[in-house]
Amino acid sequence: MGTPAYVYDAETIRANYRALKAAIGDLPHEICYSVKCNSNYSILRLLHGLGVGVDIVSGGELYRSLRAGFDPSSVVFSGVGKTREELRNAIKSGVGLINVESDGELQSLISVAEDLKKTVDYGLRVNPDVTAEAHPYTSTGHGAAKFGVALADVADIVASAQASGSVRLRSVGVHIGSQITDPGPYARAVEKIVAVAAMLREKDALTLDCIGIGGGFGIGYAGKVGMDLEALFSLIREPLKASGLKVLMEPGRSIVGSSGFLVSSVLYCKRSGGTNFAILDAAMNDLLRPSLYQAEHGLSVLQPVGSEEKEWDFVGPVCESGDFLALGRTLSGVAPGALVAIEQAGAYGFSMSSHYNSRRRPAEVLLDGERFAVIRTRDEFAEIVTNEVVDLEWENRD
Ligand code: LLP
Repeated sequence: MGTPAYVYDAETIRANYRALKAAIGDLPHEICYSVKCNSNYSILRLLHGLGVGVDIVSGGELYRSLRAGFDPSSVVFSGVGKTREELRNAIKSGVGLINVESDGELQSLISVAEDLKKTVDYGLRVNPDVTAEAHPYTSTGHGAAKFGVALADVADIVASAQASGSVRLRSVGVHIGSQITDPGPYARAVEKIVAVAAMLREKDALTLDCIGIGGGFGIGYAGKVGMDLEALFSLIREPLKASGLKVLMEPGRSIVGSSGFLVSSVLYCKRSGGTNFAILDAAMNDLLRPSLYQAEHGLSVLQPVGSEEKEWDFVGPVCESGDFLALGRTLSGVAPGALVAIEQAGAYGFSMSSHYNSRRRPAEVLLDGERFAVIRTRDEFAEIVTNEVVDLEWENRD
């Protein structure tokens, strides 16, 4: 397929899933894979085969999930700004649960459900006001974040919907952020959400039968340690069990992150201002995480050229100084023609890619033991301009 290309390993995805299941143990639960982190059809098919449901945040992700064969009842629709059209399509498709994040959104849901003469199961995402150490862009559970409804408003919002026969409260949940490696904030959030569920059940919200703990379990980037899932669940298993509710979770990164590599070729090497630059054929449009979050991914040389060891900044061809994939890495074998793998790129890699600089998005390949399959071909140039309108009448107007 040439480079740059994303390569995913199916067995790593299965192993990550099994590790999560083992850590969850005998807690009654349902796993809904967070489609946003890697939404390729073949990855969704693989996960479908493992028996998970999906967590989606847009009409596009609903389309992808149904196309990949997920039963609508196994779909949870999350997100802070669903349009009426998205709500309508979700209800008509028979989506299992719609998580609302504000009073306004709940009122929209009620009105769309009434129009369609349907009764819809909804969940309430609560902002537990818990701070978890994560990049500020991916920390979502603190009181100042745009996500969820404030603890103090939960009772009123639920009461305002009780009168409507069109919605039924099934779940209350939290999602405190992404790439969290400390179990502590989960324990604090679980304590709060369990108390919210108990309070609502006391107020006769008897249809409530699920409690959501979100996703966000961190992985080990560049040799660092990820979330200890055993430690996490040993902290939260008992309080969750005692709630008597089924636990919903929406992991993404912890399932697919470590399975993926962005494979790229070194085009040129140059020294400038005291820095050794290795210019790759992959760029920030292919993997945005280093540029956007200063994220550090592992990087290894797959096909070395030469053996001299040096410190390198690995950068892309895009016309921005922020276009880098890895900085300050001491490695040997880096020279034009060498092949490198940027690691832990299975989550929020391809799914955040773009055509910036009119670059074709990379191919994607899935490995499974001795077999491999191209699961997405590299874009053709024509695909970059496919929606642009060529209107000669407009051009030739007086
Ligand atoms: N549930 C909700 C409501 C979410 O917003 C997210 C992620 C997840 C579940 C899944 O989180 P995970 O298990 O994958 O951490 N682009 C960023 C991450 C953004 C996360 C957005 N929400 C990154 O590359 O680090």
